Parts: sequence; structure tokens; C-alpha cells
Amino acid sequence: MPQFQRQTRLAPANPQAIAEAAACLRAGGLVATPTETVYGLAADATDERAVAAIYAAKGRPRFNPLIAHVADAAAGREGRLDDFARRLIEAFWPGPLTIVAPVAATCRVSLLARAGLDTLALRCPDHPVAQALIAAAGVPLAAPSANRSGRLSPTTAAHVAADLDGRVDWILDGGPARRGVESTIVACLGGAPRLLRPGALTSERVEAALGVALDRATPGRAPIAPGQLASHYAPRARLRLGARRLQAGEAALDFAGALADAGAAVRLDLSPSGDLDEAAARLFACLRALDDDGAARIAVAPIPERGLGAAINDRLRRAAAPREDDV
Ligand code: TXA
Ligand code: MG
Repeated sequence: MPQFQRQTRLAPANPQAIAEAAACLRAGGLVATPTETVYGLAADATDERAVAAIYAAKGRPRFNPLIAHVADAAAGREGRLDDFARRLIEAFWPGPLTIVAPVAATCRVSLLARAGLDTLALRCPDHPVAQALIAAAGVPLAAPSANRSGRLSPTTAAHVAADLDGRVDWILDGGPARRGVESTIVACLGGAPRLLRPGALTSERVEAALGVALDRATPGRAPIAPGQLASHYAPRARLRLGARRLQAGEAALDFAGALADAGAAVRLDLSPSGDLDEAAARLFACLRALDDDGAARIAVAPIPERGLGAAINDRLRRAAAPREDDV
């Protein structure tokens, strides 16, 4: 029997289910939980076996550092927070911002969850179910997105079940994820904070709170967030970005009706009214729906780069990139 074969319980995230799922976490189990960004696959970050089970369930080919999800107050115990990190926590936690900091001497997060690094990614999710799980488990929770490796991040419990049924112990259903794209990751490791991954919190807001410009990842520099590798968020279909007209056989992923008259057999609009927050929330669900429909090629309308458009375009570029060894 493969090691990941498990009896998966899928239930609405009510207090009873949360309590049972938290007990399961304390015993080393795997629990898929809603967060405000995407669904996460949580395990006790201090327990190497539980963390190893995350990689097995996702089918990740190699270890990649995971975000430790903490209660606001616990962050200083796990990571060494400089003034920039404190300012960001003050301004945005709980919320869709992950901070990478040097590991503190009191850090409980296992080496495996950190992939051996002496830095640590910390996040305090703005979701009552995730917060209740963290509080009841009493330990930081390692939680990557709750999808099979190489598939899109899940924004509903049904997406999680499609990928991980039989591989995890619990799936807590908290309805569709409000934000729909992953957290923004900022490294505070001395010097100017560095943007490692654009995400659900715009870099404009981060910079306004910091009072300094973010250092940006430079192309050609080795990625320090493996999620920066090109083809990470991949649907099965091939994507063509910035499309203004359709080619034969393409399905359309539209924005603000730009491709409405293009004659696509299948067309989904991320936001007919041109609202980038709505587009971010619907991005992964729309890509999944087009994939499930059997589209071989998807033409994607241009998405403006302002606000959450930066995170949306980042995910689309990765999804369109030639496939690499997946992380
Ligand atoms: O919104 C989110 O952040 C979701 C929800 C579930 O919280 N989680 C998520 O986790 O997106 P994951 O594992 O799919 O992405 C974590 C990213 C990876 O790109 C990883 O390389 C980076 O965080 N990361 C983790 N620890 C790091 C570290 N010490 N230094 C640099 N990057 C790190
Ligand atoms: Mg992921």
C-alpha cells in the first residue's frame, strides 16, 4: 500500500471538525485548510515525519522550504525580526504577506520544513479556520498550497479533493478562498527588504508601509524562493498571453470583455467589470475549469500590470513557461 493512502474526511469547517482536525495535526496528520489566499496543506512544522508526509502527498520531487503559519505573537520566537519585519507585521498581519527572516535560536520549525536553510518563511493567515487550527495545534503549521505538485493552487475544497483525496486526513471546507492568489513574500534579511514573490498584497502597499523601495529579484540571480522558478503554476493546457484575437481551436480566458467578440467556443472572463481583485480571486478556478473542459490551448487577454495585476501576470507567465522540473 502506498504510504500516502489515507481515509480522507471532507467536512464543513465547523468547530467540531476543526477540533478533530487539530487533534489529527497534533498526532502528525495532514489537514487541508482554507486560508484567505488559497487552500493550504497543513502539518505540524516541528515534526519531520509530518512534514515529509506533505511532500509525499503532493508528489513533490524534491524538498522545497515551506511557509510556517503562526499566530501573530509567535513569530518572534521562530524568526529574528528586524525593524522592517516588525513594521510589516504591524501593518499587514494577519494577512497575505509572508516574511522571510533569519531563524531564531528558539525556532521550533524542523530543518526539513526549512529545507535546511537558516532562514524561515513566516505567515499569519487572515482566516478564522486557519487561525483556529494554529491555536489548537499549539505549534507552527507548515502549509504549502494543497495541490498535487505541478497543478494549480486550489481555491475551493473541491479543488483540493480532486487532487488529494486519499492522500490527506482532512479537508476542511471554508468556501471559496477570498483572495485567490498566494501571499506576497518579502525577505527581511538585512539591508532593503526584497520582494521574492508578488502576491495578494500589492508591492505598492508594502512599500508604502516600509517607507523604502523593495529590492526586486534580478533576472539571472539564483532564485532564493524556489517558487520563483519559471514553470511553477501549471495548468495542462498551453497558454498564450496578451492575446487580442483568437487562433483556431483556442479557448479564451478573458478580462473585461476584451475577447468577447472573438468567437471562442469556450470563454471565461476573469472579471467582466475589469476588477483586478475579482480577477485574482477567480484566476486558478478559471484555469482549472478550462483545463477540465479539455482545452488544449488557452488565449489569455492582456491583464493590466497595476495593483493585483502584477501577481496575476506573474502566475500567468509561470503557467505559460516551458515546463521545468517541478518544485
Ligand atoms: O498564500 C500562501 O502563501 C499559501 C497559503 C497556503 O498560505 N502557501 C504557499 O506555499 O503558497 P508554497 O509552499 O506553495 O510556497 C511557498 C514559497 C515557495 O516559493 C518557497 O520557495 C518560499 O515560499 N520559501 C519558503 N521558505 C523560504 C525561505 N526560507 N527563503 C526563501 N523562500 C522561501
Ligand atoms: Mg504552491
